[in-house]
Amino acid sequence: MDVVARKLTSRHAAGPLSGRMTVPGDKSISHRALMFGALAIGETRITGLLEGEDVLRTAAAMRALGAEVTHDADGTWRVAGRGVGGLDEPDDVLDMGNSGTAARLLCGILASHHLFAVMTGDASLRRRPMRRVIDPLSACGARFVAREGGRLPLTVQGPVEALPLEYRVPVPSAQVKSACLLCGLNAPGITRIEEPEATRDHSENMLRHFGATVHVEEAGRGRIISLQGQPELRAADVVVPGDPSSAAFLVAAALLVPGSRLTIDGVGLNELRCGLFATLAEMGADIAVANRRIEGGELVGDLVVTHGPMRGVDVPWERAPSMIDEYPILAVIAAHAEGTTRMRGLKELRVKESDRLAATAALLAENGARVEVEGDDMIVHGDGRKLAGGGLVATHMDHRIAMAALVLGVATEQPVTVDDAGFIDTSFPGFVALMNGLGASIGPAA
Ligand code: S3P
Repeated sequence: MDVVARKLTSRHAAGPLSGRMTVPGDKSISHRALMFGALAIGETRITGLLEGEDVLRTAAAMRALGAEVTHDADGTWRVAGRGVGGLDEPDDVLDMGNSGTAARLLCGILASHHLFAVMTGDASLRRRPMRRVIDPLSACGARFVAREGGRLPLTVQGPVEALPLEYRVPVPSAQVKSACLLCGLNAPGITRIEEPEATRDHSENMLRHFGATVHVEEAGRGRIISLQGQPELRAADVVVPGDPSSAAFLVAAALLVPGSRLTIDGVGLNELRCGLFATLAEMGADIAVANRRIEGGELVGDLVVTHGPMRGVDVPWERAPSMIDEYPILAVIAAHAEGTTRMRGLKELRVKESDRLAATAALLAENGARVEVEGDDMIVHGDGRKLAGGGLVATHMDHRIAMAALVLGVATEQPVTVDDAGFIDTSFPGFVALMNGLGASIGPAA
């Protein structure tokens, strides 16, 4: 995409949005499939892999560490793994682009390999906190050196033999939990990780799928995960479901445009990812799930979304881990509901690809919504009517802010413009074409 085309405008849809579609593969599961494939013995075949920039960075990193990663013309990806502890020292800097998940999970893998590596990322990733993985991973014997405040670029020197980790994750973070588990794979003995709130458990599911012994114990609102170190991971085929976090943008578009009805096939419905759908149900949204099934160890279903009136709700802080990436688009939906929506406990949004709490509030305010931030809560007041629109939204290198703003534009009086839609390709390649195919009108800004 050239620089001019990155500035996009979304105009009011001419009529209802309708159609049946799939969304690209789940980003979290795609990263993990490549990583576990690289740590297994044999050839892992992955279907439905998200071919977005973030995941391609992980594929490149796995190649740089000695795994063979290829893809067939039909979209199947193949990873010839090196076995647990079998990765090579990379001979160049590992650039993880915009992806916090790729960077943090990879830190976990590198920490328990006896090698030296240098990692960097783009301007957004270089601002994000890495101390949250550096601190626990250092306990395995790895030595990290990072920029001021624990930012990238960083270097890591792994120990000759890693120690298992015992760690209580202080913030609900699947990335930190997963980094610790990946590190523990190449340490003898039991790695024991406690999380205060249950977060997405794709790593635990995939560890089992590749043959590791993992024990999960409920502990209040959280979990204690014990992993037996140095298993022989065996290659296993992975079917990646559609990403519920990407589906959320299409769901929102259907809910905002009168008369719309969309069917989104094959969406991942892991219960630790479904907070948005629970919230929308409370708001009165008409979303049916058809054809529930298990695919590749994850619950999957087809979503049928029909436009209708919605009311504001109170979203409890405990729900945040199960919908952490969905607040920008929920805020857009809430601005069209009748009444006030209060989203509580959004501290973690401040350390995403952008400060998403500030960026979401600005996105809405810029387009005529009434929005407030009080501490870590965001409050959106709607009156069930269209917003004025007409704003220019600063996306701050954040794909979800860009998509949330473009979805908003399908329902505002005046068009909504984003300064840079280029980052959408990190998670949802083809988003603009797909939206336009359903009846949206998104194109280069004048
Ligand atoms: C992810 C975990 C979440 C989420 C991110 C993907 C993962 O981050 O925001 O998009 O794949 O583990 P945190 O675990 O840091 O909250």
